Amino acid sequence: MIIDAVLTPAEIDTLPQADLSSTVCVVFDVLRATSSILTGLAHGAEEIRPVVSIDEALAAREAWPDAVLGGERFGDRIDGFDLGNSPLEYCRAGLRRIVTTTTNGTVALRACASAREVWVGALLNMQALVDRLRQTAPERVTLVCAGTFRELALEDVLAAGMLATAFPDATLTDAAQVAVAIYLQHRENLAAALELAKNGRVLLASGRADDVAWCAQVSRLPLVGILRDGVIRKG
Ligand code: MLT
Repeated sequence: MIIDAVLTPAEIDTLPQADLSSTVCVVFDVLRATSSILTGLAHGAEEIRPVVSIDEALAAREAWPDAVLGGERFGDRIDGFDLGNSPLEYCRAGLRRIVTTTTNGTVALRACASAREVWVGALLNMQALVDRLRQTAPERVTLVCAGTFRELALEDVLAAGMLATAFPDATLTDAAQVAVAIYLQHRENLAAALELAKNGRVLLASGRADDVAWCAQVSRLPLVGILRDGVIRKG
């Protein structure tokens, strides 16, 4: 198995043109989009549609009138939407269908749409990702780090490195080796690394320490979200 990593939003922009037909993409937006999506699935959401724009979210809700609208711009709930992007908001029961749009996470998920499979990754479901990757044993895995605005995000690279570390026999590209090095540097205290990351600092400064603490939990959720035909469901 070859493990590659896409570390920056600029590289994510190129994914829609890439041939991903034999690639499994695992998308990480640890703070907070993929953590929130997985939290929603773990609390009973059956279908989550990640979309890129607010207009697309509104149109998707017309097709799914029972859905709630979630997501963020600049970290805050979008005007007129039901939920923001805090994973704690997705712990609520009764959110059967969700349409979500976020600055980086949903964009990264959608950029991988042509891949053989697209999985939703976070620290929260690390063991489930490892188990599924062992079972699936694809030819190639690309660990997609969603980033923050146009920048790399430490917490996404760290999570990608943690997953890659579980496969010592795999062939790692240079980018995947960088991710592993970042993980090894922080492995003793992942929560501290999340607080050190730019996204973590912004969340702490805006009173969202509980979000950071939730997203720092390793393997709390025993599930993988799978994106197929534009919709994420439990895999
Ligand atoms: C994103 O998709 O850019 C993030 O999840 C932003 C956030 O923390 O809400």
